[in-house]
Amino acid sequence: LKIVVLISGTGSNLRALLEALRSARTNETPILAEVVAIGTDRDDANLALAEEFGIPHFVVRPKDFADRTSWGDALLAEIQRYEPDLTILSGFMRLVPPAVVEALSPNLVNTHPAYLPEFPGAHAVRDAIEAGVSETGASIIVVDNGVDTGPIIERRRIPVEPGDDEASLHERIKIVERELLIGTVTRVATGDLNLKECERA
Ligand code: GRF
Repeated sequence: LKIVVLISGTGSNLRALLEALRSARTNETPILAEVVAIGTDRDDANLALAEEFGIPHFVVRPKDFADRTSWGDALLAEIQRYEPDLTILSGFMRLVPPAVVEALSPNLVNTHPAYLPEFPGAHAVRDAIEAGVSETGASIIVVDNGVDTGPIIERRRIPVEPGDDEASLHERIKIVERELLIGTVTRVATGDLNLKECERA
């Protein structure tokens, strides 16, 4: 399974995926999946990861394009150069333009730090803290043209602990996001999960 991963930030979830794939290779239970390229929308994303793991990478910056559509077309062209079977948004903080969704989905997934459809959008963890809920969650979904509205592949409940702030809660959520991410990649790679079926769900 050839995977392209898009990040915008620290890429800690991507690191977890890369390490899981690497360790699966070494302990004879290979997950038949490989990250073939890492892409981002900005110069300050953690592309050191690409260097560290020896993976090609690309930067497609919105500010270099006249509009979202042309940015999206350039992003799609870069992704398609690697002919991925699956594209993962892992902390990618941009809405993917319709042409990109159209071309890649349902083999286009995103992890989100909430129990969707609760707390969609870019500030899910902060919103959960501010809402004072006793539990939130983590989700992995197929990306559609909405904001975190696509078919849910899997989601898990995560408790909010007394004294949690956004950072402590987000770290706890990311641990589960990584499990969802690695689990989904494994299930798609083994054919146990067909993302086209999620679309119909
Ligand atoms: C993750 O919680 C992801 O769901 C959200 O941003 C965070 C990215 O963290 N969109 P990292 O860049 O993988 O550390």
